[in-house]
Formats: sequence, C-alpha cells, structure tokens
Amino acid sequence: MEDKMKYLNIALSKGRLAELSTSFFEKAGINVEGLRNESRKLIITDNASFVRFFLVKPSDVPTYVEYGAADIGICGRDTLLEEGRDLYEVIDLGFGKCQMCVAGPKELVGKLDQIPNKRVGTKYPNVTKDYFEHVRHESVEIIKLSGSVELAPLVGLSEIIVDIVESGKTLKENGLVVLDTICDISARMIVNKVSMKIERVRITNILDSIRDQLG
Ligand code: PRP
Repeated sequence: MEDKMKYLNIALSKGRLAELSTSFFEKAGINVEGLRNESRKLIITDNASFVRFFLVKPSDVPTYVEYGAADIGICGRDTLLEEGRDLYEVIDLGFGKCQMCVAGPKELVGKLDQIPNKRVGTKYPNVTKDYFEHVRHESVEIIKLSGSVELAPLVGLSEIIVDIVESGKTLKENGLVVLDTICDISARMIVNKVSMKIERVRITNILDSIRDQLG
C-alpha cells in the first residue's frame, strides 16, 4: 500500500509576522486563504498541498520547531537568541526589522558603566545576561517581565531595560532613550533538524521559492 502523504507543519507567530509571512507561502504555491480569515482557529490546513499552519505565541515558535511538532517556523531573531533552541536558521526574511537595545532615562546617556548593581527589566533575560556578562563584563540583576517593559524605569522597578525598539515611539512617549544597541533583529525562517533530512525535497522547494521571492 502506498504511504500516506504526511502534512508539512509550519509554525507562525500569531499577529504581524504571520500576516507578513502569508504572501511568501502563497507564492510558494500553498493555499493561504485560511490564514487570511479572521478566526480563532489554531490550525489552518491546506489539504491540496498537505500543509498545516500552526498559529502560536511568538516565543513558542522555536519550541514547536525544535521538538518537531512543526517542521518549519517563522519568528523574530530576538526569540531565537532568547530561546537558544537546537534548530536550523535558514533564511533572513528581511521584514520585522528592529533592534535589541538597552534603554533608560536620558540622564544615563554615556553613564551606563557608572551605575553600580543595576537592575534591568526585560522580556529577554538570556539575551540580557549574555550582553552584560560578555560585552560589558558586569553582573546585573535581571527582572523578568512579560510586556510593557518601558514602565519599569518609570516607576523604579529597574534603572534600565533591554527590549526591542522598532519605531522608537514607545521609548519616546515614555521619556526614555536608547543607551546602547545590542544587535539587529528581523524575521527568520527556521527548520527542524530531522525534518530537513526526511522532508528535504518539500522543504527545499519552499525555501527556494522564498529565496527567489527575496531576490
Ligand atoms: C514591543 C517592544 C516595545 C515596542 C517597540 O512591544 O517590547 O515595547 O514593541 O516598538 P516601537 O519602537 O515601534 O514603539 P509589544 O508591542 O510587542 O508589546 P508588549 O510591551 O506587550 O510586549
């Protein structure tokens, strides 16, 4: 008996990155109508091309891909740096561009080294630890937050923050400035290491199409 065709599973970050990814998959020959519908469904299936999209929280995309629940994923480089998962990062998609920055009140410009025992509010504790340990060679107290990180220095929870800055609007409207830039961020396509072997042809076709689209 012929083997049943396996579904190729693609994990997308719910929200903006999923929207920006949709046309890439469409041009790769996948029916993405389900992704365009406003719906609460977490699995969107294209039965014609045997592809399923999983809509997950951005920080969970690398987890689904590392464990093989998803063969492919799209997420920000910020998430990859923070999660440190064992997977292949295959394409820089060039959208979702922003920077990982240290930010704080403008009084601290040029004085980052002068505050002892700094507390740093962040959604990215691993990125923060790595930066302060290996770049600035100092130990800091990291306070893990889940969002609205810019509030922390305003109310005395921390002296500074580490967060992504896109337009700079959130910092500006809260009277904060960039004190140092850690690295550039953009959306990345990632692939499970085993899937890359056993689904090589199908995955390579999608990757080639996306690389062509990027020019
Ligand atoms: C992100 C980030 C900053 C903001 C930066 O937050 O953590 O707060 O966007 O964007 P900007 O430079 O264009 O203002 P997000 O909107 O994901 O919400 P969150 O604070 O709840 O994490």
